[in-house]
Amino acid sequence: MIACAPSLSRAQESMDKLWGDAVVKLRVEDATRGQLFNEGNYAMFIHWGLYSLLGNEVDGKTYYGIGEWIMNKNMAGIPIDQYKQLAGKFNPVNFDAHEIARIAKEAGMKYIVITAKHHDGFAMYHSKACDFNIVDATPWKKDPMKELAAACREAGLGFGFYYSHNQDWTFPGGGNGPGKDEEGNRATFDDYFVKKCLPQVNEITTEYGPIELVWFDTPGKMPKHYVEQLVEVVHKNQPRALVSGRAGHGLGDYQTLGDMEVPRHNVEGMWESVDTTNDSWAYAWYDEYWKSPKEILSRLIACVGRGGTYMLNIGPRGDGSVPERAEKTLTQAGEWVRRYPQVVYNTDASPWQHVLPWGDVTRKDNTLFLCVFDWPTSGKLYLPNLKTQIASAELLGVEEGESVTWEKAGQWIALNVPPRAPEKLVSVIQVNLESEPEVDPVWALDPNMATEVLAEFASVDNAEKSEKRWMEKFGEWKGVTHVHGLEKGGAASWEIDVLQPGDYNVELTYSGNGRLVWGVAIEGGQAIQNQQNSSHNYQTFPIGWINFPKAGRYNISVKCLEGEVESASLKAIEFTPMH
Ligand code: GLC
Repeated sequence: MIACAPSLSRAQESMDKLWGDAVVKLRVEDATRGQLFNEGNYAMFIHWGLYSLLGNEVDGKTYYGIGEWIMNKNMAGIPIDQYKQLAGKFNPVNFDAHEIARIAKEAGMKYIVITAKHHDGFAMYHSKACDFNIVDATPWKKDPMKELAAACREAGLGFGFYYSHNQDWTFPGGGNGPGKDEEGNRATFDDYFVKKCLPQVNEITTEYGPIELVWFDTPGKMPKHYVEQLVEVVHKNQPRALVSGRAGHGLGDYQTLGDMEVPRHNVEGMWESVDTTNDSWAYAWYDEYWKSPKEILSRLIACVGRGGTYMLNIGPRGDGSVPERAEKTLTQAGEWVRRYPQVVYNTDASPWQHVLPWGDVTRKDNTLFLCVFDWPTSGKLYLPNLKTQIASAELLGVEEGESVTWEKAGQWIALNVPPRAPEKLVSVIQVNLESEPEVDPVWALDPNMATEVLAEFASVDNAEKSEKRWMEKFGEWKGVTHVHGLEKGGAASWEIDVLQPGDYNVELTYSGNGRLVWGVAIEGGQAIQNQQNSSHNYQTFPIGWINFPKAGRYNISVKCLEGEVESASLKAIEFTPMH
């Protein structure tokens, strides 16, 4: 379900519908194709174009949302001729390809993907197919893509292009573009495809050296035979290059998730998350809400821990310079990535298949990298239901690498760790196993700290569980898997594992209308209920303490008992030990 301001979606197919179907893709046949994708796991996305000159401000008015859509009627609705005049003012004297490559390298990223042409139709390279490009239409008259491709090669980084193949808001016949040409003749999509799209995809895959990836976007209802032609051109001109999941019709080489989406459960096959360092892809003058280095690391490690690749975006200004705070937070996170490359590169998903209370896990064969974001001051770090024998464990990042001892705790393992975290951002414990890791991924309540269990992992009875996405600001996507439809007396339930019996404080995260009464019950055990308020935003409210009399497995269920139950939307339940 899409929840956004009504005016934002009626006219034009809503953006996430334009992304095309999500198709699971297992490893590509030809192992050389996408090596950097598979092994790199971390890359830089760059949105830069005429829209960067405006930075979401038009005639003194600021528009809030993703900056590369400023021309679109969902934002400022700038007429084509007025928008095209921007090219005359585009003179990015502060563009420095080596500087951008250096920032990506220092961030620990393995390749760069930059916008060659976005939905607005302006080519950020020297295109012979259309003169609405950075060399022919601007006073700057240089091709930044030549420089950046070379700078990436010098820096040992892969290089790739974003190309909006369906939408073209300025070229006659382009998707969501003008239906007539300058002479007033009717223009078809085929005109756009033959005169501009196909020749340009041929240009970007033949004139900039080896390409790692061509990132097509918003295929919408683009007919399949056009996509087939484009994918063929890419694979013919660049046999090692990957085509993004948003090519359309499942013809991409891997799956691209929704914007700003990092999954909370392991996802099979080859896939990527694309994310922003603030809340916009392109430069937006007001957007100073930057992800902290720790937040970047938590989303990167979560992405790799779920089995994917993380591509994080920057939006240079109209003059070509990179916002200093974007560089700062990337570099600080990069300082950590470059000290722990083994945790990120060429690693696979966590055997726990979801986040753990203290952090997350990546894996390399029989070695686990425990990435601890919340260090247990109790000196015990718990690994629930790890069935495989541990051979050795050590704390990384300290002088000689400090070995860590452990003991069995029921079916769990308790690692004995120093009371203080060795790292400011994320501490890493390397656990070497005797054989393949085997884990029972049941949600388990940590004896030391709060454990949040997502509705996404609940089973539902006489209720519904579904994914929903919405835009906070235009194009700033949020998503949740929620349990709803509880008005039929239904319930969400989870099997959970308790190591430490005793009292736990229960909190629920939900949205709704007005005061709601929630009931939380342990099958065959205690049941509690409480009334708390709600709003359309997801908020966490305490329900009360509940007691688990002994260690073991329990079934927990949650019901919404009173109030506007039909409005109740449950996101998570959290247990905090009270012993
Ligand atoms: C969406 C937006 C587009 C952006 C892309 C990045 O498709 O429409 O502007 O470039 O996401 O993932």
